[in-house]
Amino acid sequence: MCFLSKALALALLLTLTTAALTPEECANLKKTLSADELHTISGKWILHEFYVLSEVEYTGQPMKETNSSWIEFNPADNNQTFIAKQRFMVNEMCIRYSIHLTVVGNTLQSAASSPSSASFLKTCDDCLLAHFSNSGGIGTNLLLLYAKTEKVPQKDQEEVREQAKCLGFQQPPLFTYTQAELCPEQSETTKETEE
Ligand SMILES: *[C@@H]1O[C@H](CO)[C@@H](O)[C@H](O)[C@H]1NC(C)=O
Ligand SMILES: *[C@@H]1O[C@H](CO)[C@@H](O)[C@H](O)[C@H]1NC(C)=O
Repeated sequence: MCFLSKALALALLLTLTTAALTPEECANLKKTLSADELHTISGKWILHEFYVLSEVEYTGQPMKETNSSWIEFNPADNNQTFIAKQRFMVNEMCIRYSIHLTVVGNTLQSAASSPSSASFLKTCDDCLLAHFSNSGGIGTNLLLLYAKTEKVPQKDQEEVREQAKCLGFQQPPLFTYTQAELCPEQSETTKETEE
């Protein structure tokens, strides 16, 4: 194949992949984990992408200054609640949060703090796609891609981008993980914020 036809083939491929999805295709990409599947969120996850609906409305953790983040979900109280430990590495400092979330159907609810409700979309293997909504104060909707691994295969990343588009999230994401150092399991330098 000569260079020109390769370029043409690539251009065609790009056109095809950027074409808007049909409502049916989107409905498929918006399926959430059921209550029975909710235990699969347990464990530690590295944040890979952080989407907002609108940068202007978002007033939460300054993700542009964040180098890395992880979250760990631990079920408690006979699977009626989850404790979520969150870590953000910012300027070589670890910011630590611990949040108690109540299981309601296939969602997690937090009474005290924002974000107030989380559901999880079906997505790539070894990935976790969390959709936070009604996040009082910090912006109405957030979409966070987490993975078990340091890297997410490109085809998985592309699928998640389509999922984000279907849900109306702004592209590109506010934050994309570039394999910066992660906060250690324990860090004595900062105080944990209990919410
Ligand atoms: C952390 O992020 C800031 C802002 O993007 C960047 O300037 C800095 O080089 C990063 N540090 C590390 C260790 O990756
Ligand atoms: C919590 O859920 C997991 C996965 O479904 C199950 O294996 C475990 O037995 C449950 N624990 C309790 C205390 O119900």
